[in-house]
Amino acid sequence: LHLLVLSGANLNLLGTREPEIYGSVTLADIHNSLELEAQKLQVNVSCLQSNLEGELLEAIHSARNSYQGIIINAGAYTHTSVAIRDALSAVEIPTVEVHLSNIYQREEFRHHSYIAPIAIGQISGFGANSYILGLQALVSYLKK
Ligand code: DQA
Repeated sequence: LHLLVLSGANLNLLGTREPEIYGSVTLADIHNSLELEAQKLQVNVSCLQSNLEGELLEAIHSARNSYQGIIINAGAYTHTSVAIRDALSAVEIPTVEVHLSNIYQREEFRHHSYIAPIAIGQISGFGANSYILGLQALVSYLKK
C-alpha cells in the first residue's frame, strides 16, 4: 500500500506556530514518525506540505494512479475549500481527515469541515499523534 499524507496552509510553521494550541513538534518530526509507523505497518508513505491550494489540488489529482489512500490535514482550507473536497471526490481515493487540535472546541468557524462528509472519518484533537492515528485507521480500513 502506498499512502499520501498531505498538509495544507501554515502547517510548515508547526513547532513555532501557536505552540499552546499545536504543540512544539515540527512537521519534519511528524513526517519522521509517520515513516516509522509506516514501516511497522508495512506500508509506504509520501508526505507533502503546501501553502498553495492549487498545489494541493494537483497533488491529489496525480495521486490517482499511484496511491491507495490519503491522509489530509488541510489546515484552514478545511473550512474554506470546496475545491479540495471536489478533488478528493474526483479521484475517489479513500481519505482520512486529521487535525492536531480539536476543531470542535475552538471558534465556531472551525466547526465546519468541507472534507468531513467525503472522508472515511476524522481524527481531531490528539496533537501530532492525530497523524499517526489517522495512518493506523486508514491502513486498517484498507486492509479489510
Ligand atoms: C488545524 C485546524 C484548523 O482550524 C487550522 O486552520 C489549522 C490547523 C489543526 O490541525 O488543528 O491550520 O487543521
